Amino acid sequence: MNRTHNCGELRASHVGATITLCGWVQNYRDHGEHLIFIDLRDRFGVTQVTFDPDICGVDTHETADKLRHEWVVEVTGEVRSRGGMINSKLATGEIEIFAKSVVVLNKAETPPFEISEHAKVNEELRLQYRYLDLRRPSVQKQIITRHRVTKVVRDYFDEQGFLDIETPILTKSTPEGARDYLVPSRVHPGSFYALPQSPQIFKQLLMVAGYDRYMQIAKCFRDEDLRADRQPEFTQIDVEMSFITMPDIMAVAEGCVRRVWKDVLGVELPTQIPHMDFATAMKKYGSDKPDLRYGLEILDVTEWAKTCGFVVFQGAATTGGVVRLINAKGAAEKITRNDLDKLTDYVRKLGAKGLAWIKIQNGEWNGPAAKNISAEVRAELAVQAGVEDGDLLFFGADKQKNVETVLGALRIKLGTEILKLAKKGQWEFLWLHSAPMFEWDEETSRYYSVHHPFTAPYAEELDKMESDPANVRSQSYDLVLNGVEMGGGSIRIHSPEVQARVFKALGIGDEEAKAKFGFLLDALKFGAPPHGGLAFGLDRMVMLLLEIDTIRDIIAFPKTSSATDLMSDAPSPVASAQLQELSIRTVLPVAPGANPTV
Ligand code: AMO
Ligand code: AMP
Repeated sequence: MNRTHNCGELRASHVGATITLCGWVQNYRDHGEHLIFIDLRDRFGVTQVTFDPDICGVDTHETADKLRHEWVVEVTGEVRSRGGMINSKLATGEIEIFAKSVVVLNKAETPPFEISEHAKVNEELRLQYRYLDLRRPSVQKQIITRHRVTKVVRDYFDEQGFLDIETPILTKSTPEGARDYLVPSRVHPGSFYALPQSPQIFKQLLMVAGYDRYMQIAKCFRDEDLRADRQPEFTQIDVEMSFITMPDIMAVAEGCVRRVWKDVLGVELPTQIPHMDFATAMKKYGSDKPDLRYGLEILDVTEWAKTCGFVVFQGAATTGGVVRLINAKGAAEKITRNDLDKLTDYVRKLGAKGLAWIKIQNGEWNGPAAKNISAEVRAELAVQAGVEDGDLLFFGADKQKNVETVLGALRIKLGTEILKLAKKGQWEFLWLHSAPMFEWDEETSRYYSVHHPFTAPYAEELDKMESDPANVRSQSYDLVLNGVEMGGGSIRIHSPEVQARVFKALGIGDEEAKAKFGFLLDALKFGAPPHGGLAFGLDRMVMLLLEIDTIRDIIAFPKTSSATDLMSDAPSPVASAQLQELSIRTVLPVAPGANPTV
């Protein structure tokens, strides 16, 4: 096939040339006087083609008359100027093609939805026919941007001396905190590979092997509850370095992000990304990934609350809980009674007992929390919280963790939905560092790693590992953008003794540690260098860069929120012979009381 140009390429300078284009019929119009117009589309753009029987002849004109949406054609013709009829919406709008011949390369059935930006199509249908959805220019732009990001990232790390090394997909379970996807072994009946939740252990082994400065654009697999920014298989920009400290890795990672924003978006990011430790973030923003596009900081007023006169606050403040507030400056008028009821319902669903609020208007304090608070006590709060006329205060009174959760979520709701303070084109990056090593889980009565079990504690806090594990902090860091965790990493443990103590704190016995991570523990004994690294979520990075709400849009073939592929219908049952070969029998879940079907 001999196309001479693509559909986005021709300009006034080509007028007079005879060219050949190939593409899909986007639109066809019959304008009387025997003129037929088609818009021909490929991934580069759209070009208008005109069929005039006096130029193309009757036979070609007849063929053109039969063209329908999404037929694939090859058109040869002459480039002509559109004179005063320029279409400023098209890059090729100065010209049109007067066809001399057309070849139908393939017909198309009527598509289940129009391939256009305007058509409102439900996502299920789009995913079922994803190859049609992918033809839409806006989706193509997203996929092409993803390519650009990948290219810039690879170039950047190559320039910095990193080696791109692949790690296995059929592997052993890696502990990133989600469930594993398992692959049965035919050769070893009853044994399974796990798909990697990340290349974590392998990249550490590469450091032990001396391959300082590793990077990989790696597929990761996690069987977890999906959200708008989570997919069961996703891609990481995975990085590891030796002989470094936290600031070194952060600098390299920041450099990558700065380069991507500049080369792909043309945006120059500030040279210094702010740093915040985990405890401060939880206190001020109720989140381990604060959205800094707006203020609405959380303020602790527990001391004030102890004698404030309002029984709900006093109760919490005097029984080991906390009272905190958000002062929504100038929001008293903007937030209606109806909004307040909705917000109260919202926080109740998150486990709050209620949502006390106070509106300050025309010198009056109104709202359920204002009642029993005397003028002096109000004045005291006004100083502490910078209260002015027109402000609206929201309070949380409960155990510290609950208040953080509730006010953290309320803050986001206010900033993004209710007061709409977050704006497009705002890039608020933040390094969040020094998360606790361990988090206590009430349900299972044990500690879990906040990052992963190979994360190094601060050396000066090591002695608390056995006596007070909850207060040991890790040398960890997450890069947060606009309230989304875009990447995270840590300095790793390179001493076998410290690694053993961490496993112990996590309730992982020697035997279990040996069975699960024996190869890593062994490797640490053979001259492991101090090392550390980080991984960005590539999908999330592109999603954030394009300011898109769902990660599915920037993955060519994504899965639904229930982890299915609507196009290929995966996952699906397999032939029993296949299962037999794998020595597998399935037992499907059944309603309580019924006999299981085997
Ligand atoms: P972590 O588990 O924090 O760290 O993952 C790193 C980054 O990967 C992205 N990410 C996801 N993206 C889409 N869908 C998912 N289900 C998903 N889960 C995670 C996030 C996250 O910040 N091995 C460590 C990294 C390290 O310590 O070097 C790790 O995997 O953007
Ligand atoms: P009550 O005394 O339960 O009627 O509550 C008075 C006000 O305080 C109502 O607006 C409740 O929504 C609110 N409230 C109750 N419990 C809490 C709490 N733990 N934190 C914040 N506000 C609360």
